[in-house]
Amino acid sequence: MKYALVTGCDHGVGLSLAAQLSDRGYLVAACRLDDQETQIESLAAQRQNIRVFDVDISLDESVAALCRAVEAAFPALDLVINNAGILGRMESGPDEALDYALMQRVINVNAVGTLRVTTGLLPLLRKGTDKTVVNISSEAGSIADCERVGWFGYCMSKAANNMQGALIHNTLRREGGRVFQVHPGHVATFMRGHLDTTARITPEVSASGILRTVLDTPHEVGERPLYLDYTGKELPW
Ligand SMILES: NC(=O)c1ccc[n+]([C@@H]2O[C@H](COP(=O)([O-])OP(=O)(O)OC[C@H]3O[C@@H](n4cnc5c(N)ncnc54)[C@H](OP(=O)(O)O)[C@@H]3O)[C@@H](O)[C@H]2O)c1
Repeated sequence: MKYALVTGCDHGVGLSLAAQLSDRGYLVAACRLDDQETQIESLAAQRQNIRVFDVDISLDESVAALCRAVEAAFPALDLVINNAGILGRMESGPDEALDYALMQRVINVNAVGTLRVTTGLLPLLRKGTDKTVVNISSEAGSIADCERVGWFGYCMSKAANNMQGALIHNTLRREGGRVFQVHPGHVATFMRGHLDTTARITPEVSASGILRTVLDTPHEVGERPLYLDYTGKELPW
């Protein structure tokens, strides 16, 4: 039996990742922010191998409570997918009034929140066979490929997400584990507050590409995490 945990399973990419990991036979800890979001509960009711947990990754105590609950229910974790994230404001550029409080919230969720979850779950990951962390980052976190003039909070948060992933990789790779930083593609989800109809792919296509890339494709464990998109294409840092 393999064990996985996914954050942000309320809907979107996280919900599809939980469903597809369950299809692959994992026992899945599916983490949700909003207990009014019932899609993951409905899925868990139809499957034997999904357990639903509530967590707000922006809060120390909420993540600590999650880790205690998962430790009570799971003997180990082979795979942690840090998928939860928020967009914040898509400013048109630096001349627009910037919302620094919102920017700090985006960084707290996308970068610090991701790190909170991983460090809290390290004891369970260390008991797992694979010890793999997948951080759902974004192409927006690439400094080498930066063409935008706004989206400060989101881009900075995903660049910081990439850095915390590189730091965690340096611990895990010495213990037989690894980290992947993954851009899920431009996905039709509600991350912009409405269904993004300009997106190219569905959450199902994104999730199956992510799992194929990190679970089915052999990759050497290098000194840096791999920064890949959902098709397996490498991105510049
Ligand atoms: N969609 C894209 O085109 C795209 C592109 C690049 C990267 N990404 C990344 O892909 C990941 C998944 O996004 P998505 O497109 O599937 O959007 P989404 O449907 O909005 O999913 C994000 C998930 O994170 C949860 N979440 C937000 N704040 C949280 C918090 N403080 N604690 C715990 N969970 C929290 C959301 O819960 P609620 O919705 O209930 O608040 C939701 O379940 C994100 O990391 C995003 O940055 C998406």
